[in-house]
Amino acid sequence: MSSYIRTENLYKSFRTKGNNVQVLKGINLEVQKGDIYGVVGFSGAGKSTLVRCINRLEEPDSGKVFIGETEITALSKRELATKRRKIGMIFQNFNLFDAKTVFENIAYPLELEKAKKKDIQKRVDELLELVGLTEKKHAYPGQLSGGQKQRVGIARALANNPDVLLSDEATSALDPQSTLAILDLLRKINKELGLTIILITHELEVVKYLCNNVAVIEDGIIVEEGEVRNIFLNPNSNTGKVFLKVSKEFQKNEFVSGGEGI
Ligand SMILES: Nc1ncnc2c1ncn2[C@@H]1O[C@H](COP(=O)(O)OP(=O)(O)OP(=O)(O)O)[C@@H](O)[C@H]1O
Ligand SMILES: [Mg+2]
Repeated sequence: MSSYIRTENLYKSFRTKGNNVQVLKGINLEVQKGDIYGVVGFSGAGKSTLVRCINRLEEPDSGKVFIGETEITALSKRELATKRRKIGMIFQNFNLFDAKTVFENIAYPLELEKAKKKDIQKRVDELLELVGLTEKKHAYPGQLSGGQKQRVGIARALANNPDVLLSDEATSALDPQSTLAILDLLRKINKELGLTIILITHELEVVKYLCNNVAVIEDGIIVEEGEVRNIFLNPNSNTGKVFLKVSKEFQKNEFVSGGEGI
């Protein structure tokens, strides 16, 4: 089966203060349609740069990106703007407009499309229902919890019925309960709307909970990939091994430190 999201030999460097830093060093990623695909790695490994190259928020230096039949890297600026509507993205810091209400935040991409007012009302109400925020329709982001803000971010990302959702550390700023609720919402979206999701995280538990497949990025290259259980039962890469070790340490020490002396 051919993959739905594909990168071929993707390279990206940044020039800062005369230094050229090579961040992506030939990334070949293959994600099947309908998958929830995890990308893990240490801080600075290049995860955010990789997803930002997929929708060309960053322009790769070389290499190709495909989504379905479309070569994203071959699109003109105008074609890209159209295609981007079908690529939703959510962020760690939510990226909401603080001066807009929940309704206005979610309506924003539809207004850009010049959708009819009545259609916008209907679509936003549907999305609010989907993410469970109907009663917060007229609230401002400042009046919401982190989990609720991320629900707004998700609703906004889904406004134009995208086929793909890119999630960059979407739960990293959330408490465990909100994290779980957001992960369940992403699973629901994947199942009910058939979205293909690429989920960037440095939390192994998140990958285990939600993803089918995973790629481990180390210093700008994919060092291993495959089914989540195979990778984390028996990791080959340094990153994979450290992730597993840390996860086991947490489990081993559960209840130990807090329980002493009681
Ligand atoms: N716009 C930029 N200009 C210069 N350097 C950048 C830029 N964006 C990223 N980098 C550098 O590229 C490297 C990879 O960054 P990236 O944000 O992709 O890492 P990451 O894996 O997402 O890390 P984290 O887990 O901390 O989010 C880092 O060394 C970073 O400093
Ligand atoms: Mg990042």
